[in-house]
Amino acid sequence: MPITVSSGARVVQRVAELRTALAEPRRRGVAVALVPTMGFLHEGHLRLVDEARRRAAFVVMSIFVNPLQFGPHEDFARYPRNLENDVRLATARGVDLIFAPPAEEMYHGEPAATVTPGALAERWEGAVRPGHFSGVLTVVAKLFNLVQPQVAVFGQKDIQQATIVRAMVRDLDYSIEFVIAPTVREPDGLALSSRNGYLSGDDRRRALVLSRALHAVADAFAAGERDATVLETLAYDVLSEEPTVSVDYFALVDPDRLEPVAAASPGTVVMVAARAGATRLIDNVILGAT
Ligand code: PAJ
Repeated sequence: MPITVSSGARVVQRVAELRTALAEPRRRGVAVALVPTMGFLHEGHLRLVDEARRRAAFVVMSIFVNPLQFGPHEDFARYPRNLENDVRLATARGVDLIFAPPAEEMYHGEPAATVTPGALAERWEGAVRPGHFSGVLTVVAKLFNLVQPQVAVFGQKDIQQATIVRAMVRDLDYSIEFVIAPTVREPDGLALSSRNGYLSGDDRRRALVLSRALHAVADAFAAGERDATVLETLAYDVLSEEPTVSVDYFALVDPDRLEPVAAASPGTVVMVAARAGATRLIDNVILGAT
């Protein structure tokens, strides 16, 4: 059966069309929320739409695989894309407007100006992916300027990204309510990700060790353990159950600067990055939040 997208969300590809489409909610004086994505939507993205809907009468989703945030040896070319299915899913979830620009609509050759993040972007993901967070902040700043939303919703799944964007909202004085929505997981614990399709069956099974390690730490914290070294040792014991999953980092950090803490407290972020086969996975939990 052909997919009908004629009713429901409007899809625009051009900046001029986006501005015209946004005139209507502005005239009505209703709040606009933005959910930025790179598409290949899953339930994690759609839960952000639910959060946006709770706070704003008009929800805009951007779908744009941002070349600026991919390193030269990363998966930009093979990043999964399926706009038709994305439009169907977003529409069914109540998105009012989808902005899905081609790259040349967003970037006009080599950019003359980009957003440079501070030290927060040099740690963890930033250490492994130089330039990544500058690419993220630049596209998010452009989307904020284009849509001028009152609300923006990001996922906890990418906790460092959410933390850095939240800091940009503060430091560059965007007047935006910034919302971080909880990570959505498969029933077996694997955090949903557009990149999970890269995992072979065996690697997918091995990857479950990440959420097991995070939950072991959360359980020990709930039982009263506060010593970060003890909690990390516990996590590495779990992670060693899958020696082929190679851990890039596992750390207990504070929620604002993402710097390692000696003692865990409610709000401490436990973050992990690892490789299963050729696929890099990241995950985290916030202690005391579950
Ligand atoms: P993307 O990976 O498509 O993710 C879009 C948003 O969905 C992000 O805020 C991300 O944290 C959130 N998300 C992804 N998986 C999730 C899950 N399992 N549960 C909850 N939220 C989840 O992140 C990006 O795109 C890009 O960097 C972007 C911000 C769009 C800038 O290009």
